[in-house]
Amino acid sequence: MHQYLCLLLLCGVVHGLNNGLARTPPMGFLSWERFRCNLDCKNDPENCVSEHLYKSIADVMVAEGYRDLGYEYVNIDDCWPAKERDAEGRLQGDPDRFPSGMKNLSQYMHSKGLKLGIYEDFGKETCAGYPGSEFFLRTDANTFADWEIDLLKFDGCNSDPKDMDVGYPLMEFFLNQTGRPILFSCSWPAYVVGTLKQVPDYQAIKENCNIWRNYKDIQDSWDSVLDIINYYGKNEGNFSEVAAPGGFNDPDELIVGDFGLSYYQQKAQFGMWAMMASPLFISADLRNIKPEFKAILQNKRVIAINQDPLGAQATRLYQAGAIQVWRKPLAVNGTFAVAVLNTDNQGMPTKVTLTPAQIGVPNPNGINITETYDNVHVGAFKPGQSFTLSVNPTGIFLATVVPLS
Ligand SMILES: *[C@@H]1O[C@H](CO)[C@@H](O)[C@H](O)[C@H]1NC(C)=O
Ligand SMILES: *[C@@H]1O[C@H](CO)[C@@H](O)[C@H](O)[C@H]1NC(C)=O
Ligand SMILES: *[C@@H]1O[C@H](CO)[C@@H](O)[C@H](O)[C@H]1NC(C)=O
Repeated sequence: MHQYLCLLLLCGVVHGLNNGLARTPPMGFLSWERFRCNLDCKNDPENCVSEHLYKSIADVMVAEGYRDLGYEYVNIDDCWPAKERDAEGRLQGDPDRFPSGMKNLSQYMHSKGLKLGIYEDFGKETCAGYPGSEFFLRTDANTFADWEIDLLKFDGCNSDPKDMDVGYPLMEFFLNQTGRPILFSCSWPAYVVGTLKQVPDYQAIKENCNIWRNYKDIQDSWDSVLDIINYYGKNEGNFSEVAAPGGFNDPDELIVGDFGLSYYQQKAQFGMWAMMASPLFISADLRNIKPEFKAILQNKRVIAINQDPLGAQATRLYQAGAIQVWRKPLAVNGTFAVAVLNTDNQGMPTKVTLTPAQIGVPNPNGINITETYDNVHVGAFKPGQSFTLSVNPTGIFLATVVPLS
């Protein structure tokens, strides 16, 4: 099987997936964390998984400027299909909740300058028990292309993760054969780590996926956000070595605008996701979001760190007590984004004294530091000169650092 697959895929030198997509981390909306598998359209018509939900979110993304900042993918998650395939074995949208059909929905998105993402599962059934793609990989790839889908999130419930090393590349092969560029979002490494307890082959994953989930699903809490940040901080997958234009690690959705995080924790999540060159998929009700949370999601300078064309993922330089220092190389030579994360939850800001050398930018002529969220110039400092920051509990200091000549 593997040899056959190699012929099909022209196995050879290791490179990223060559479909022209995800040159920078994709941005958009993904319904799962906030809207889950809400099927109750009778009593909760605004929030159930239905064409109305995706269309109304899309309308807000256009009207309130999200699209123009780069948030272009509107991604459906689990629970969209009918429980049965049609007579030809094809998937179909649930007829009550998607009465206009899936192609109609993608055309709606395209007419607004947006893209439509859909969800399926490598196994017999999706995580929520809808028809999975096992034995239907080619049929489903063709169906998604017929519907003019732009992104496929491919989950791994109800499958044997040992089959994924063959199955995910095969699905990518069928997607490629459709001739339609479809951004491929893989859950493959998350199952290799979570179920098989093995180290994923990130080179193979990078050749077949545009983005890939490495770790657990995010939940609506700071504990969950911090657990995910620390997973990448430990760097057991050498994550920053594989992240590059065309392929990015995916720490899961943004929960900015939801219930579980404070204002400063929301800034910390958004800032760290920017640092990690993560997909920026918002899972919040954008139709009802407080202005200060919207301002976080729409901060152009933070988005620019995420969308930097170098596509590098930050690494954690060190941890000292509750303080973590992360550094992300930027495309302009010698410049970096730096985050100082305070994981302490005691109710007082922490004073953090650092030198340019300690943030990993020991330029002989010194550096300029500019705080990102509020665009405040912190100062110019020589390599050994110290500066003191005040970082809120469970908060972030995010900055760009430019070498002086
Ligand atoms: C999509 O569905 C809507 C509502 O049912 C309908 O008004 C519209 O004409 C459909 N568009 C296409 C392209 O079929
Ligand atoms: C399919 O793969 C080939 C080889 O990597 C690539 O050149 C082409 O752009 C891909 N097509 C699509 C639609 O992804
Ligand atoms: C990470 O990189 C180090 C040094 O290059 C290497 O020894 C190690 O095997 C790598 N780990 C993984 C999981 O690829």
